[in-house]
Amino acid sequence: MSFQEKVVVLTGAASGIGKATVQLLVEQGAKVAALDLKGEQLQEAFGKDPRVLCIPTDVSNSDAVRAAFQAIESKFGRLDVIVNAAGINAPNREANQKMVDANVAALDAMKSGRAPVFDFLADTSDQDFRRVMEVNLFSQFYCIREGVPLMRRSGGGSIVNISSVAALMGVAMPLYYPASKAAVLGLTRAAAAELAPYNIRVNAIAPGSVDTPLMHEQPPEVVQFLVSMQPIKRLAKPEELAQSILFLAGEHSSFITGQTLSPNGGMYM
Ligand SMILES: NC(=O)c1ccc[n+]([C@@H]2O[C@H](COP(=O)([O-])OP(=O)(O)OC[C@H]3O[C@@H](n4cnc5c(N)ncnc54)[C@H](O)[C@@H]3O)[C@@H](O)[C@H]2O)c1
Repeated sequence: MSFQEKVVVLTGAASGIGKATVQLLVEQGAKVAALDLKGEQLQEAFGKDPRVLCIPTDVSNSDAVRAAFQAIESKFGRLDVIVNAAGINAPNREANQKMVDANVAALDAMKSGRAPVFDFLADTSDQDFRRVMEVNLFSQFYCIREGVPLMRRSGGGSIVNISSVAALMGVAMPLYYPASKAAVLGLTRAAAAELAPYNIRVNAIAPGSVDTPLMHEQPPEVVQFLVSMQPIKRLAKPEELAQSILFLAGEHSSFITGQTLSPNGGMYM
C-alpha cells in the first residue's frame, strides 16, 4: 500500500498515538500536516523533517482550525486523509488529579473486599464537561467540516476519528470522557453516510489501554488494573495503533465505512 503523493492532516501529532502515526505515514511516503497544541513538542518531533508541515493549533478552536486548513491548502493543494487523534482525559490538572485519587481509592476498596463507589457526577462542572467535549468531539467536527471541501476537490479520501473503548463499555469514570468518545462514533457514522457519494470513507478507532503519556497520567497501580482487564496482558504500543489507523486510512479498507475498529487487547469483545 502506498501513500506516495498522499496528503494527510493529523491532529494530536506531538505525542503518543498521533506521533507514532505521523512516523508510520511518512515512512509510507505521505506528506503530513501535523497539528498539535504543543508547538514546541511538535517542532522537536518533526521540525527537521521536510515531509512534515508542523502547524501549532488548538483544534478545539474553530477559527484556528480554519486557518490551519487554509495553510494546508496553500502548501499542498490537495487532501487525502484526516486523522483526528487529539484528545484529553480531563479538562485540567485538578480534575485529572481528582480522577486519579478516585481510581486509587476504588482499587483500595476492592483490595479490602469493599465495593468501590464514585462521585464523578456531582464533581463535574458545566465548564469541565464542555471543555472535554470541545477538545475530543468538536475538534473532529471542525476538522472534517474544514477538510472535506478540499478532499472532495482531490477526488475523495479517508477520515479516521479516534474514539475509545470507553465509548463501547460502561465504566465508572468522569462522564465527559465516554460521552465525548461515544459521540465521536455518531459523528463518524453520520459523516460516513453523507460523504460516501463523494468517495470519502469515515471510520473510527476505539483503542483499549495504550502506552502513551495520556495513559501514564494514571498511577502505576491503576495502569496495572487496566492491563488486568485485557486478555492480552500488556499495554498496546502506539505503533500498533498506528498500524490500525494506517489500515483505515489506506486502500486496503476500501469497502469499509462508518465502522469502529477496536484494538483493545480483548478488553471488550
Ligand atoms: N492512551 C490510551 O490508552 C488511549 C485509549 C483510548 C483512546 N485514546 C485516545 O487516543 C488519542 C491519542 O491519545 P494519546 O494516548 O496518544 O495521548 P497523548 O496525550 O500522548 O497525545 C494527545 C495529543 O493531543 C494533543 N492535544 C490535546 N488537546 C489538544 C488541542 N486542543 N489541540 C491540539 N492538540 C491537542 C496533546 O498536546 C497531545 O500531543 C486521544 O484522542 C485519546 O483520547 C487513548
